Amino acid sequence: MNEYIESAVAQFHTLLEEQLARTGRMENAAPAKDFTALPVVTIGVIDGDGIGPIISRQSTRVLEALLKDEIASGSIVLKPIEGLTIENRLAKGEAVPKDVLAEVKKCDVLLKGPTETPKGGTMESANVTLRRELDLYANVRPVSVPDQGIDWIFFRENTEGEYVLGSRGVEIPGKLCMDFKVTTLPGTKRIARAAFEYAKNNGKKSVAIVTKANIMKKTDGRFSEICHEVAAEYPGIEAEDWYIDIMTAKLVDTRVRSRFQVFLLPNLYGDIITDEAAQLQGGVGTAGSANLGDQYAMFEAIHGSAPRMIETGRGDYANPSSLLRAASMLLRHIARGNKAAVLDAALDAVPHDGDTAQGFADRLIAEIGRRL
Ligand code: IPM
Ligand code: MG
Repeated sequence: MNEYIESAVAQFHTLLEEQLARTGRMENAAPAKDFTALPVVTIGVIDGDGIGPIISRQSTRVLEALLKDEIASGSIVLKPIEGLTIENRLAKGEAVPKDVLAEVKKCDVLLKGPTETPKGGTMESANVTLRRELDLYANVRPVSVPDQGIDWIFFRENTEGEYVLGSRGVEIPGKLCMDFKVTTLPGTKRIARAAFEYAKNNGKKSVAIVTKANIMKKTDGRFSEICHEVAAEYPGIEAEDWYIDIMTAKLVDTRVRSRFQVFLLPNLYGDIITDEAAQLQGGVGTAGSANLGDQYAMFEAIHGSAPRMIETGRGDYANPSSLLRAASMLLRHIARGNKAAVLDAALDAVPHDGDTAQGFADRLIAEIGRRL
């Protein structure tokens, strides 16, 4: 047993040093890039796995129609990024192969189809790797159901918590295993600031800080405290503490849920509760997701690669709405709000009647043509 303990302790030592170094990098981060003032915006398009290439192809067609003038003048470039497939990732033994990452880094923003995440083993999810490598710390997920008064936006911390060392736990075979959860001061401050800035700029009056600080005393306890420190700089915006279990219940309590506005929460709780919230809106196929950092931003469907749809031959019927809602968030991020509004209006106006992805895109393109 001793040798396992020694190697686990050595590993823990390395992990602590690495996380301290990451903390230092966050403290000395370069100033944020202004995504609203780029003379040329390069949008990298990543297909992904499963239904990814199908919904990505159709989303690209829709964007080409919507942005035809910008593409013609060269102010927006749609750039396909090859090689982020499960086959290539497994062959190279890298979650995001180096050459693919180099191409990704030449872009300003990314539109990404779902990628398959191998269960178990040691290969990290491509999402997690990209979020870390590009330091995309704010996972922003809006959910709205206007006729039920639901207008929510989730600010999920996206680079630490349960995820940052999720593939690097320790094990004493046949006995026990341990994973690690990490909360840092600069990592929490920046997501809290993103949430409160959003609240301030959008007239929101309350932010729900959602943790399990009664149990995860160190990590969630500090997360909540740091969020309150940031909240103190935003008079007029109420910061409320909630535990994740009761919040999960409140989201389906029709008497109270419409009073929530902005949610601020650590990574794993954010992952779980945003699927629940998306389901209330009509399903994970309807919700877009933004991963925002200071230098890059990546926009993706909230759902996975749906391998079952491919296996059962229904891939062509995949619904590209979630990726297109993500595309609309992308357009707002690069100050193309007018184009985002056209896309959103077209998505609201064109029902998805169990169409093929292509048939749905055709009807969207026609609707966009009428609205441009
Ligand atoms: C999400 C997804 C990812 C996550 C998976 C694909 C790694 O569920 O974006 O919510 O857990 O963050
Ligand atoms: Mg998820």
